Amino acid sequence: GKKLRIALDGPAAAGKSTIAKRLAEKLGYVYIDTGAMYRTLTYKALKMQTDPENEKELYEVLLNTIIELKPGTLGQLVFLDGDEVTNEIRSNDVTNQVSNVAKHPLIRKEMVRRQQELVESGGIVMDGRDIGTHVIPDAEVKIFMIASVEERARRRFEEHKRQGIESSLEQLQKAIEERDYLDSTREASPLTKADDAIEIDTTAMDIESVVNTILDLVKERG
Ligand code: C5P
Repeated sequence: GKKLRIALDGPAAAGKSTIAKRLAEKLGYVYIDTGAMYRTLTYKALKMQTDPENEKELYEVLLNTIIELKPGTLGQLVFLDGDEVTNEIRSNDVTNQVSNVAKHPLIRKEMVRRQQELVESGGIVMDGRDIGTHVIPDAEVKIFMIASVEERARRRFEEHKRQGIESSLEQLQKAIEERDYLDSTREASPLTKADDAIEIDTTAMDIESVVNTILDLVKERG
């Protein structure tokens, strides 16, 4: 069929990247995790001790920063100015500050510009917060993935356990709630469902059925 553009948005830890990765694999599409780009800038800003509230300074940093997303065997690899930072950008420090970095209009403008360059002609699954609303407003398939905050915290907890990272379920839930609040109340392209996006509540769904639901939509539209 035709190569489509799939926009996958939703709150933190809703399983977007897991689903996006599987979809891209099954369809032979490119997967782009836009959150990784905001995380990479946040990681660099923290290292440089740039104040996350200082939009101008952050913007200067971003203009001098090369962020690369490359496909790896276990998923997407992330490079900051040539160095791999795939795991570093998932740290609690980065997670706790990324929404403050991502709220600035200048930062978003430049990130969206870079993301749109990656979209090109299609055959892409892009996940984030503003993909269906701002990055690819004319995407053929738009999904808004949600799940209860308890379920999202539980999934993140299990994921950490598998990775040998110790964490508290309560703390995880609090951090997720805080990030959702910041992401959906910021002024510049807040997290919101596009009018023409299809909402999928994955609280009681397994990965396979979410993937199949979206594959059906892709077949319909391709
Ligand atoms: O998807 P992930 O949870 O890794 O995203 C990290 C953060 O990056 C989000 O909480 C949000 O603040 C920001 N983000 C964004 N717009 C996107 C993707 C991520 O503002 N398209």
